Amino acid sequence: MITKPYLKAQLRKALCTALEQAFPELSQTQIEITLSNRPDSADYQCNSAMKLAKSVNLNPLDFAKKWCDHLPTSELIEEIFITGAGFINIRLRDAFIEKHLGSIYKSPRLGVNSKDYQNQKIVLDFSSPNIAKQMHVGHLRSTIIGDAIARLFEFLGAEVLRLNHVGDWGTQFGMLIAYLKRYHSNVLNGKSTANLEDLSQWYKASKVCFDEDIDFKNQAQREVTALQNGAPESLAAWKLICEISRKSYEEIYQLLEVNLIERGESFYNPYLFELVEDLTNKNLLTVSDGAKCIFLPGFITRENTPLPLIIQKSDGGFNYASTDMAAMRYRTQQDGATRIIILTDAGQALHFDMVSKGAETAGYLQKNNGEKVRFDHVPFGLMLDETGKKIKTRSGESEPLMSLIQNAITASEKIIRERGNHSFLEENEIRNLAKTLGINAIKYADLSSNRTSDYKFSYERMLRFEGNTAAFLMYSYVRILSIKQKIGFRDLSDTLFKITHPSERLLALHILHFDEVILQFSEDLLPHRLCEYLYQLAEKFNVFFRDCRVEGSKEEQSRLLLAEIVRKILFTGMQLLGLKMVEKM
Ligand code: ARG
Repeated sequence: MITKPYLKAQLRKALCTALEQAFPELSQTQIEITLSNRPDSADYQCNSAMKLAKSVNLNPLDFAKKWCDHLPTSELIEEIFITGAGFINIRLRDAFIEKHLGSIYKSPRLGVNSKDYQNQKIVLDFSSPNIAKQMHVGHLRSTIIGDAIARLFEFLGAEVLRLNHVGDWGTQFGMLIAYLKRYHSNVLNGKSTANLEDLSQWYKASKVCFDEDIDFKNQAQREVTALQNGAPESLAAWKLICEISRKSYEEIYQLLEVNLIERGESFYNPYLFELVEDLTNKNLLTVSDGAKCIFLPGFITRENTPLPLIIQKSDGGFNYASTDMAAMRYRTQQDGATRIIILTDAGQALHFDMVSKGAETAGYLQKNNGEKVRFDHVPFGLMLDETGKKIKTRSGESEPLMSLIQNAITASEKIIRERGNHSFLEENEIRNLAKTLGINAIKYADLSSNRTSDYKFSYERMLRFEGNTAAFLMYSYVRILSIKQKIGFRDLSDTLFKITHPSERLLALHILHFDEVILQFSEDLLPHRLCEYLYQLAEKFNVFFRDCRVEGSKEEQSRLLLAEIVRKILFTGMQLLGLKMVEKM
């Protein structure tokens, strides 16, 4: 992380200065600061004494004592005490928390220092289904997580290019076009229509023909060449196939409210020969079994032979890796990316490991001025049903995404009606709420589980109103809105926040960590930490609201300010996750 979160940076500065004074030989040493595990008495702790004591031949306790002797209490620190074998505990001053909270309220990004992101250009490649095939749950995960990452960088002020790298090129289109010409010419000449379901059936059927019928196989191969050479008829057929698929994907994007720019594999087709030329000039290609390959150190097959990154196949054709290499080059050199991020299931990790190493070797992850372009492959696990198996319909087909989403909406409507307390909602408001809740629930269930592991999809769990769920956050938000409305809205910019109760203090302290969570998210691209933070925020708010009367109390203004900051952070956080807020529920 380049920018340090504010609070930790202040603490680090104080601790490092003291360390340097106590032990000049340890200047410039890295230290660890974490949240305290005894939140009743301390806010932060530093465990570095254990590690550092050895280097100056002291025991950790004496080391910590000497260190702390040089650490004065200050505007920031109220109390320092050592526990156990040399753990340094720090309690912040209330006045500092109060002041900083006020500045978060007034700051446009709620205290997040985004200066490192202002001039960044992030190329984010996500969703990326394959033309003529149904989108599957992997693409749903990619779409939801990708959108959250895009929103994060947009919030930080970076320019984000949201690219849908659809699989719209390759030899399989030869088969499909040959099949359409033979059996469904009416679709090609516009006399009848087809949808994605038809296409994916025909796609499967064309594969069977390809394997069984030599004439068909020959024709399919001729179609590939024709398509690559830009023969108008083949190109028209291909465009039609893409158009039909696009229409179906578009429905899902609209429902999820996710924006993407389609720039599929075919986009890079004109750059593939150039790529081969450039790699040849750089002496990176080796011909192996007729194919042009890059051999990278450290990549070997199970048989212990070098594993090639194939750039051009022996028949002259190109593959997934060729396109990805061309895409890396284009994104750095033409798009001016400062960071490239690609989301796919974890199964493609090796592919991207090789492509990124290949791109680095070829200089495609370097800007003209020599600066490095950061690349992240963001992998995610499988989405499974409640029993831990792949999600399937009753007939054994993989569940279409649309029905997955529709089912969540139906289930959420049922729950809203069953809860019974919806007399304040009109009929159409109930339906709208069900739609928002259903979609939010699907998104949040995905985002709140660690993306690196598989996760179990459960309508029942994701639609609960308690616990770490979308409904709980939405409900907490609505609750604060209604408190605000009851008291009456006021301009709070001159209000001073005062800590008068431990629950207020714990909530305020949690608010002060918002910037850290956001900056961490921009580093590790793990949205579940933001979810966890928001969940804790809502929980801590509830405790505060239970313990501290707001309306009519003498601290009303100060507490209203605290509630308003919680509302703002919930609002921002949910927006970053792509969730929609409601005003009543
Ligand atoms: N279409 C691919 C798939 O469905 C994902 C593409 C990801 N992006 C990329 N640049 N390879 O698995």
